Amino acid sequence: VTEVLNRAAIDSLDSPQTLVDLNRVDANVKRMLDGCRERRVALRVHFKSLKCTGLARYVAAKGTNGFVCAKLSEAEALADAGLTDIFIANEIVGSLKLRRLAELARRAEVRVCVDDPTNIAAIGQAAHEARVRIGVLVEVNIGQDRCGVEPGEAAVLLARQVQTSPGLRFLGLQGYDGHLQMVIDPAERWAKCVEAYERLIATRRLIEGAGIPVKVVTGGGTGTWEYVASVAGVTEIQPGSFILMDCAYHAVRPEFGMSLSILATVISRRPHWYVLDAGSKAISRDFGMPVIKDRPQDQVTKLSEEHTTVASDDLQIRVGDRLEVIPAHCCATMNLHRGCVAIRGGSIEALWPIEASGRYD
Ligand SMILES: Cc1ncc(COP(=O)(O)O)c(C=O)c1O
Repeated sequence: VTEVLNRAAIDSLDSPQTLVDLNRVDANVKRMLDGCRERRVALRVHFKSLKCTGLARYVAAKGTNGFVCAKLSEAEALADAGLTDIFIANEIVGSLKLRRLAELARRAEVRVCVDDPTNIAAIGQAAHEARVRIGVLVEVNIGQDRCGVEPGEAAVLLARQVQTSPGLRFLGLQGYDGHLQMVIDPAERWAKCVEAYERLIATRRLIEGAGIPVKVVTGGGTGTWEYVASVAGVTEIQPGSFILMDCAYHAVRPEFGMSLSILATVISRRPHWYVLDAGSKAISRDFGMPVIKDRPQDQVTKLSEEHTTVASDDLQIRVGDRLEVIPAHCCATMNLHRGCVAIRGGSIEALWPIEASGRYD
């Protein structure tokens, strides 16, 4: 079915424009929260997928349990908005950054990941100088081969170092299964996921066996959320993309609706294709080509800086028509925009700045 937008409020918007469909956001959050409650795990939402504190506040009001950040700049944006339960699920390194981290801990409840003894000492020193206490989780490599110590004794040593550092509070373990999020076969994704998190839980037992309490075991993303949430000993999951979604994740997790789209205008109609006024500066292409909402027969063939070229023989499409583009990567697309329009049933409900977009520090 061709859906050419003709709703008055949305037609009053210029294009390209970031749209967030709040009815879909509601359904996505409900689905995830219900699943977490059923499995008795906390839902800490990854803010790197949102970058927008208006949307974060909207989601938090539904009963989620704090936020995850990848970067200090995201954590600072959340604290500025009064959202102060923050886990930076990443290693923060260097004296400038650690000063910012300690500053942040004055006005927010901050926790951070570590995988290195020198970094632990430096975070402890920064916390001590600022007279704050920073929560710390030891990151364990469960197969992604990014950050994290190997499971087992190496993690026990770091946990003990954190526990005995004034200014730091050892909270637990993080293991992230980024290498499994997009495994297409659900049975394979599930089996590999359980195997990975069993290693994390075995490490939890070792640390507890050494007399160190482990309060938090966290991990998982949109692709693996329910598998991670079902592993005994995991206390929290940290997905982010499930809120906005994208066409890449939708292939793996069709139960979450695609609530993010980029409103675009047809600026040229050629014999076998049409061209939209939004290109790679408005639609991320790192996870592949976007799709056109409600037009499965159309195929995006090219995404250049300011243009999207879409193969279509549909003669009803005309210059000036407005369509919505669903990106292949919501997190990277939000990072491109300075604001978004929250819509519900064709009306505009809010205009939100995307405060942490374009930030990588
Ligand atoms: C540490 C960490 N946790 C969780 C996530 C989950 O995010 P998503 O729900 O987008 O898969 C990511 C994504 O990159 C991540 O890096």
